[in-house]
Amino acid sequence: MDVFEKTEKYVMKTYNRYPVSFVKGEGCWLYDDKGRKYLDMLAGIAVCNLGHCHPRVSEAVCEQAKRLIHVSNLFHIETQAELARLICENSFGDKVFFCNSGAEANEGAIKLARRYGTEKREDKYEIVAFRQSFHGRTMAAVSVTGQGKYSEGFGPMLSGVKFADFNDLSSVESVISERTAGIIVEPVQGEGGVIPAEGEFLKGLREIADSVDAVLIFDEVQTGIGRTGKLFAYQHYGVEPDVMTLAKALGNGVPIGAIVANEKAADVLKPGLHASTFGGNPLSTAAGIAVMEEVLKPGFLEEVEEKGSYLKKRLEEIVEEFPNLLDGVRGKGLMLGVVCKVSCGDIVMTALERGLIINCTAGNVLRFVPPLIITKEEMDYGLEILRGVLKEHAD
Ligand SMILES: Cc1ncc(COP(=O)(O)O)c(C=O)c1O
Repeated sequence: MDVFEKTEKYVMKTYNRYPVSFVKGEGCWLYDDKGRKYLDMLAGIAVCNLGHCHPRVSEAVCEQAKRLIHVSNLFHIETQAELARLICENSFGDKVFFCNSGAEANEGAIKLARRYGTEKREDKYEIVAFRQSFHGRTMAAVSVTGQGKYSEGFGPMLSGVKFADFNDLSSVESVISERTAGIIVEPVQGEGGVIPAEGEFLKGLREIADSVDAVLIFDEVQTGIGRTGKLFAYQHYGVEPDVMTLAKALGNGVPIGAIVANEKAADVLKPGLHASTFGGNPLSTAAGIAVMEEVLKPGFLEEVEEKGSYLKKRLEEIVEEFPNLLDGVRGKGLMLGVVCKVSCGDIVMTALERGLIINCTAGNVLRFVPPLIITKEEMDYGLEILRGVLKEHAD
């Protein structure tokens, strides 16, 4: 049986997979089992920010795997403590809790906010979230995800969740109250269609959260670790949350998640209140250290901003070339979406057949989240493939 037959027979069909199986990755390139080469402008969905098999990350993982993989959080873990230090010293955070995924980080952040609220008053447990948001697939995470398709048939959802419109403060005002324990928001909505928050909106959320003493949570699972040209997307806005969730790129592919909190929020989770067996284990945190040290190298983030501007400009040229198919470009840094006037699944499929990996989010947005190490030549190569694909679809 080949990989396709085995997957069909033995793997739960929770994904509609493309008929491709990769066997090797290097930088921005992936190689399939037939020896074909692909330019990866998706990076495992904003995960492999340093490219595939980055030598420093692979070396850190191999070295750590030979020394010590897991001991549990009953003991002190040097790599966990060091990664927490790196995150805190480069963000608003005072303390970090490590877990294993984005959904798990959001799950923990929601628990933290509820505990913060209910310690003040019994009925202070409501969470304000946003339409079109995406926060993951666990029960609390789907409960605060503002897209019905993710929660349909899984009800009842977590009670006390109120939805407001993204980038609309008056809509937030209409659902906020003294019962609000937390507000959870993505600085750039990813799965919702690559929609950046407006500066005034995040500033307003900060003020609203303070006015009712609620915990402001930024979900930076997709935007974090340099994706938008700053280490964390909130740093574009001059607005600090109380809690930030991370995952995806923090391990460059090694599963890891994190809840980063300021002092006020961090103190809520006392011994015994929250835990994770694997969270912050030596292996994943060794990968995280390598990632952070690379992203923090002088000039790295400036280059991401510069490459992001370049890619945006080139995509805007393409939008002008295909006015019947495309509508505009939005996003920040190397997290960009091209809004299509048609559903974009077929474009993505043809691009894959031509050796370019991108994806389609929110039904009609082509998403570009390439490894941050991508070169201008590589971007040009990918855009030429895209141009060819669009020509075919325009005819
Ligand atoms: C903003 C955001 N939050 C949470 C998640 C869920 O992360 P995970 O799939 O690691 O649970 C995602 C995944 O796409 C995401 O984009």
